[in-house]
Amino acid sequence: MSGNYRITLLPGDGIGPEIMAVTVEVLKTIGKQHQLEFQFQEALIGGVAIDATGKPLPEDSLAMCRDSDAVLLAAIGGYKWDNLPREQRPETGLLGLRAGLSLFANLRPATILPQLIDASTLKREIVEGVDIMVVRELTGGIYFGQPKGIFATETGSKRGVNTMAYTEAEIDRIAKVGFETAQKRSGKLCSVDKANVLDVSQLWRDRVTDISTQYPDVELSHLYVDNAAMQLVRAPKQFDTIVTGNMFGDILSDAAAMLTGSIGMLPSASLGAENPGVFEPVHGSAPDIANQDKANPLAQVLSAAMMLRYGLNEPQAAAKIEAAVMQVLDRGYRTGDIMSEGMQLVGCKEMGEALLKALAA
Ligand code: IPM
Ligand code: MG
Repeated sequence: MSGNYRITLLPGDGIGPEIMAVTVEVLKTIGKQHQLEFQFQEALIGGVAIDATGKPLPEDSLAMCRDSDAVLLAAIGGYKWDNLPREQRPETGLLGLRAGLSLFANLRPATILPQLIDASTLKREIVEGVDIMVVRELTGGIYFGQPKGIFATETGSKRGVNTMAYTEAEIDRIAKVGFETAQKRSGKLCSVDKANVLDVSQLWRDRVTDISTQYPDVELSHLYVDNAAMQLVRAPKQFDTIVTGNMFGDILSDAAAMLTGSIGMLPSASLGAENPGVFEPVHGSAPDIANQDKANPLAQVLSAAMMLRYGLNEPQAAAKIEAAVMQVLDRGYRTGDIMSEGMQLVGCKEMGEALLKALAA
């Protein structure tokens, strides 16, 4: 065996277990073909973890993730857990995982596939050729800044507070990931902030500009986040790599995802300096279609490809999975979210079988 990897699987909630099941079969097949031995261990996160243990990220789960070569996460959350206090919400488990593994860099590609251009809500000439990588800071900014909370005031009217804060060190390390990502792509980096209003963004802009002198081969530009949102839907092809803070990245990556037709197609990688990375689809748990065999497993399968490429340094196996995804699309297989006229509507399992066939060919 050339590689022996321990993978922690976090199927989570909603459609999570269904798309994870397909992905594990794909990994087993690719493992046989590329002499890779995967040891899968499953752990709880999100709503299922709350039901079983009262906590969205039990210590055991985090320990298992730490003790692995990579973590494959599906999706968390659902109506059932939406009204719990914040510390017991599924989302808190996800944030705990990111913080617990210090996964400060989140890579979210938004690449339009030629087979799916007509699934985009934007005109063909706007989206054809779109290939964007959003590099989102993931363990800082307003998601984690202190103070935060809902506080009583003297007037009796409560006050809700979150704090958007970045240290120079936090900005520098994500900026470097941005520049290095751009170097491997077309050499264009756009940093997104709100420096016309926010001090934290001014520091962000100053640091990114400073770091840029270390990367003379990368062409750096800056945009305010409101303009960036507009430009993304107006003329998305002007973008290659985008680097931005946690909340702006959350919002812009959803917008970028929709350029490609379906958020159901997009994988992501969350990476830190030392711990194993977490690889997960950009989409959520889609509770409305859970357990109906309707989910699109392709973002999860492509997340496994990102895991092979960025987490385990197995680019050939990654490329094989990506090629299999292209093949099933070329053959016309579509789940509901990417369905268009003349294509063959399939469920989650059938999409999985088509992938295995494509891999075997
Ligand atoms: C995402 C999600 C999460 C986030 C939620 C579920 C906490 O929207 O990964 O983009 O806001 O980061
Ligand atoms: Mg989001």
